[in-house]
This record gives sequence, structure tokens and C-alpha cells, in this order.
Amino acid sequence: MRLRSFRSQDLPKLYEIDQACFVPGISYSQGELARFTGHRLSQTWVAEEAGEVVGFLIAKREPRKILHIVTIDVVEAWRRRGVGSVLMDAAEQWARDHELCLIGLETAQDNLGAQRFYAARGYRKVDKVEHYYADGTAAWIMVKELP
Ligand SMILES: CC(C)(COP(=O)(O)OP(=O)(O)OC[C@H]1O[C@@H](n2cnc3c(N)ncnc32)[C@H](O)[C@@H]1OP(=O)(O)O)[C@@H](O)C(=O)NCCC(=O)NCCS
Repeated sequence: MRLRSFRSQDLPKLYEIDQACFVPGISYSQGELARFTGHRLSQTWVAEEAGEVVGFLIAKREPRKILHIVTIDVVEAWRRRGVGSVLMDAAEQWARDHELCLIGLETAQDNLGAQRFYAARGYRKVDKVEHYYADGTAAWIMVKELP
């Protein structure tokens, strides 16, 4: 597996993966993904295995030295094989390289697998936002301070 930067021709594939990862109301439209990946303050890492995209992570730099994880998506057949960890390692290293202080993200209240994944990496729940997603699901805000 290797990581590479996003190319605009990846967009349909990232959209397909995001649709498979999340229910309607939490998944992004292709337009939203295009806006996130094209934003001048965002970074997108793409994980590839034998030329196939197996996961990706979009992060956006926010004011006050914060990196916001917009989304991390791993193709179901590739989960629990370290792809998500490699993507998060890359984002966290990027944040350290740019001397950021905090990484923050939202995750659906019922997404226990993701919450365990983040907790295992040192993220802690700091707030819960009711009706955060368009389908009414609440979100946990999770953060990790960078030393
Ligand atoms: C959450 C997600 C990104 C994790 O990616 P992954 O490639 O499976 O993660 P890794 O293999 O690197 O897992 C590292 C560790 O995190 C923990 N972990 C990961 N997924 C887990 C799960 N479903 N349940 C419990 N712990 C989990 C484990 O400690 C795991 O180590 P182990 O496999 O040795 O036990 C992936 O499940 C995913 O894309 N899910 C759908 C989209 C999603 O929910 N994204 C997050 C939105 S906020």
C-alpha cells in the first residue's frame, strides 16, 4: 500500500467510496467532496494498493493552529489492515510539520468503530452536538493535542 496526493480524476472514486462508507445524510455529495479537496487550505491523502484506491483522508487547516479531519474513508474489504492508521499518521505528521497544536474531528454518535479507532490513537471526546448531521444523528467532537 502506498500513499499519494489527490488528483482531480480521483473524485468519482472517492465519491463512490464515501457513498459506501456512510449513509445518506452523513455521506458527502460529489460537489462537497470537490469543494473540500479543492480548498486551498485542505490536504487529501489517497491510499492505493496495486493501482486501486483503498482509502483516503481529507483534512483542512483551520485558524488557531487546528487541523480538522473532514473525512477518513477506508474501503470495507480493506479495513482492520492498517490503512486508516497510515492515513491518520500522514495527517498527524503534516500537522506536526506545520506546527499545529490540535487535531479535531466529528464522528457520528452511533459510529462506535470509528470512535474506538480514534480513541486508540489518543483522541478524546470533548463535546456532543445533537442533530449535527443532516439525518439528525448527533456527533461527538473528538480532539487530540499535539505535543
Ligand atoms: C474508521 C476507519 C477509518 C478505520 O480504518 P481501518 O483501516 O480499518 O483502521 P486500522 O486498521 O488502521 O485500525 C487501527 C486500530 O483502530 C482500532 N479500530 C479500527 N476499526 C475498529 C472498529 N471497527 N472497532 C473497534 N476498533 C477499531 C483497532 O484498535 C485497530 O487495531 P487492530 O485492528 O490491531 O485491533 C474505517 O473503519 C472506515 O473507513 N470506516 C467507515 C468510514 C468511517 O466511519 N470513517 C470515520 C468517520 S468519522
